[in-house]
Amino acid sequence: MMIAGNWKMNLERGSAVALAKAVADAVPADGTGPEVVLAPPFPYLEAVVAAVQGSGVLVAAQNCHAAAQGAYTGEVSVPMLRELGVQACIVGHSERRAYFGETDEEVAAKVLALLDAGLRPIYCCGETLAEREADQHFSVVERQMRAALADALQAAPERVVVAYEPVWAIGTGRTATAAQAQEMHAHIRQVLRSMCGDKAAMVPVLYGGSCKPDNAAGIFAGADVDGGLIGGAALEAASFNALVAIARDH
Ligand code: PGA
Repeated sequence: MMIAGNWKMNLERGSAVALAKAVADAVPADGTGPEVVLAPPFPYLEAVVAAVQGSGVLVAAQNCHAAAQGAYTGEVSVPMLRELGVQACIVGHSERRAYFGETDEEVAAKVLALLDAGLRPIYCCGETLAEREADQHFSVVERQMRAALADALQAAPERVVVAYEPVWAIGTGRTATAAQAQEMHAHIRQVLRSMCGDKAAMVPVLYGGSCKPDNAAGIFAGADVDGGLIGGAALEAASFNALVAIARDH
């Protein structure tokens, strides 16, 4: 199991460090819990890496550029992240696709840049409400997976993480039912299997979208649900640590 917190563009330095420490302190020292990942905004990455040192918590960025360096004003490269001690990166989040026009091709290049540098991409996919209502959700997710992960699953399947985040459930308080989540996760597992055979079992498939302590147990019970990518409920230690504890029981 894996529980990843996506802080998005929230918190300030002091509260970010305090939250990271509170999460790190609650991680079971015996290694029995899920893998825990925190994804703060860029300016707090270094402070959060320091705050969780020695706890086993992984620190992730929320975005990166595919090129190692160059004339890309405002962008941050994977080698820069690695130098800070960052070990993972969210890629292809629906907010980046919708507000910043990220395409499947750009996302695929970012995934490969992360794998090349030894980091773990947390690759987000998921359909919009219109796509679900048109009964296209399975084909949309399959297209996103094949477009961004074909090379990655050949190169380093053991480092790839997939997050299924139905766009209609993100930040809306409207979560997928446990059955809807499991149904899509089973589909994703089948697509992964067709792309990389038995190695598909190595790829954690996380659910994201209004996942909270009061609905997580049902969602995490799904056979193909390997944890969660958490937005709103990751901004407070109490709710995030409760999610880590629920994942530990699954
Ligand atoms: P949410 O966000 O938990 O606030 O819905 C999840 C995400 O966007 O990763």
